[in-house]
Amino acid sequence: MRVIKTIRELRAWRKGRKDVAFVPTMGNLHDGHMALIKAAKARADAVVVSIFVNRLQFGQGEDFDAYPRTLKADSEKLEAAGVSVLFAPDDEELYPRGGQECHVEPSTLQNELCGIYRPGHFRGVATVVLKLFNIVQPDIACFGKKDYQQLTIIRQMVEDLNLNVMIVPVDIGRADDGLALSSRNGYLSAEERQRAPQLFRAISGVVKALEKGTTQYADLEKAATKRLTDLGWKVDYLEIRRSEDLQQARPGDKNLIVLAAAYMGKTRLIDNLEVTLPSR
Ligand code: PAJ
Repeated sequence: MRVIKTIRELRAWRKGRKDVAFVPTMGNLHDGHMALIKAAKARADAVVVSIFVNRLQFGQGEDFDAYPRTLKADSEKLEAAGVSVLFAPDDEELYPRGGQECHVEPSTLQNELCGIYRPGHFRGVATVVLKLFNIVQPDIACFGKKDYQQLTIIRQMVEDLNLNVMIVPVDIGRADDGLALSSRNGYLSAEERQRAPQLFRAISGVVKALEKGTTQYADLEKAATKRLTDLGWKVDYLEIRRSEDLQQARPGDKNLIVLAAAYMGKTRLIDNLEVTLPSR
């Protein structure tokens, strides 16, 4: 595996190569990330993984400085997984002027769900992903459904800006107790970690009710939010949306998704579950 730190070297490597799959990450790799890499390997000759903790997508008071940086362990995992290139630029390489004059402005979806609580976050994500796409020029790029709103926003960007890259969504990797794998799980205390699957169980309960035919979405959202609040969570949102575009769900919609973001102590966790209802 080659470890590349500069845009110039990455471009030189890319020249003349066909079929490149790309997995952008912020590192601290876990099995959820590794599933994306497996999906990428299955679809292309060469796989590029980037590790870059993107300052632009962190708000004030968020965990940019504390975000776990574990480049050595990550690089060993990527080597073992048969990745061709680890692209690990430093801040200066991607933001030589300290920031960006020009940004990608995602659709209004950027101001909903997580966007309400993390203003500017998806703009920062879309901007760095477009920069990375322009540098790596991948044929395909893999994104996890764990960050479903991010995936939807990236798909819209690719469509609206006619980017020549195929987006491959990958299912959520979970621990045995259901907790979605996340670098932020490392912030949880042992006791919090034990209770953390309550979030998955809450959205699973909503999915079960939807499967039974309930269309009182607001009532389901309220009840599940209350259940979590009673268990000590601070819920940012728990919502039922259309999985296709994350617009408001209406009775009769078949492809739905239950998304939630909530704090366990100081740690903000997100999760979601898709559900396809049978035609009645
Ligand atoms: P990061 O949080 O490191 O995630 C990198 C990729 O791994 C994303 O596509 C994310 O959805 C996926 N992922 C994380 N946990 C997962 C899990 N449990 N199951 C499946 N996929 C999972 O997302 C980012 O970084 C950044 O916003 C980035 C796209 C790199 C832009 O900076």
